[in-house]
Amino acid sequence: MAQTASTQHSEIAAIDAGAVLDWYDRHARDLPWRVSPADRARGIRPNPYFVWLSEIMLQQTTIAAVRKYFAAFTSLWPTVENLAAAPLDDVLVQWAGLGYYARARNLHACAVAVVDQHGGVFPSTAAALRDLPGIGDYTSAAIAAICHDEVVAVVDGNVDRVVARYVALPSPVREEKPLVRATVQQAVPKRAGDFAQAMMDLGATICAPRRANCLLCPLEPACLGTKTGDPLAFPVPPAKVEKPHRHGHAFVIRHPEGKVFLRQRGPKGMLAKMTETPGSPWSDTETAATFPFAGDWRAAGEVNHTFTHFHLTLTVWSVTADTPLDEGWWAEETMLDREALPSLFRKVLKTSGLE
Ligand code: ADE
Repeated sequence: MAQTASTQHSEIAAIDAGAVLDWYDRHARDLPWRVSPADRARGIRPNPYFVWLSEIMLQQTTIAAVRKYFAAFTSLWPTVENLAAAPLDDVLVQWAGLGYYARARNLHACAVAVVDQHGGVFPSTAAALRDLPGIGDYTSAAIAAICHDEVVAVVDGNVDRVVARYVALPSPVREEKPLVRATVQQAVPKRAGDFAQAMMDLGATICAPRRANCLLCPLEPACLGTKTGDPLAFPVPPAKVEKPHRHGHAFVIRHPEGKVFLRQRGPKGMLAKMTETPGSPWSDTETAATFPFAGDWRAAGEVNHTFTHFHLTLTVWSVTADTPLDEGWWAEETMLDREALPSLFRKVLKTSGLE
């Protein structure tokens, strides 16, 4: 049986790409940006614009969450030229709720670069894709494999988990990235795109974070994780770092004529340039509210939100007043879905009785 390159892990059997592809031929998920393995075998190729868009959207989000965003983007902007020609603000409005807003800016910059520098055609190799804004190692490999069957390892969080279990990796994945990558790389077959998607589907459906359905898994015969009797013990979790907790106040100013006051966040830092309700700075300690003007401010509740690096609690205050602040605008309460409001501020509005 073939062995992995690593001498330390010489007992690890190579991933059986044939078994993985057979499984995928029967169980591939039906996704709007995907060409099924049967159609792929008939020579139908995926649309690189759709693949790129889905891969950017899927970073750190689930397929269930992405479906409706993908449908909205591709109906508003069916081609990369359409997206490149769209105002950035429109793109941010459509992206609102997906999080990681720098990604939406890069998405737009990438569309512009593909149109201006590549005549509207996505480059076909991982190396050339890597030069575009917002496209890193994972995304470049995914697009090149899925669209052009480039023989590259495509390793996302799902694949990390499959491999960590397969080899019963004794340390956290982030300490063993080269081993994980090498284990995948040496298995990549000619059907590189189907293999990449198969490994990701396997991680999403069979070798899932809290459930391992080993009986249905094509990798079960040589999987060291399942042999230990406790495949869910892998991947070994990294040492926990407690996230700090920040606090702040949000001020929802409701105009008597059915409007709410919104403003744009600053150009730097978290949620830069997105839309927000006015509020205090966020700090490490709880502070008393300093209202923007005197009025009948009512406490409407609290919003808790977790970002990558900290938890945030906002105390939500609301007032009915026709007093605008210096910077910002009145938004019709019935038109709030047209605003580039991150989830945090949608929660704030909801807590105040809006949205
Ligand atoms: N997750 C991210 N990209 C994916 C893809 N192309 N197929 C399945 N799951 C994915």
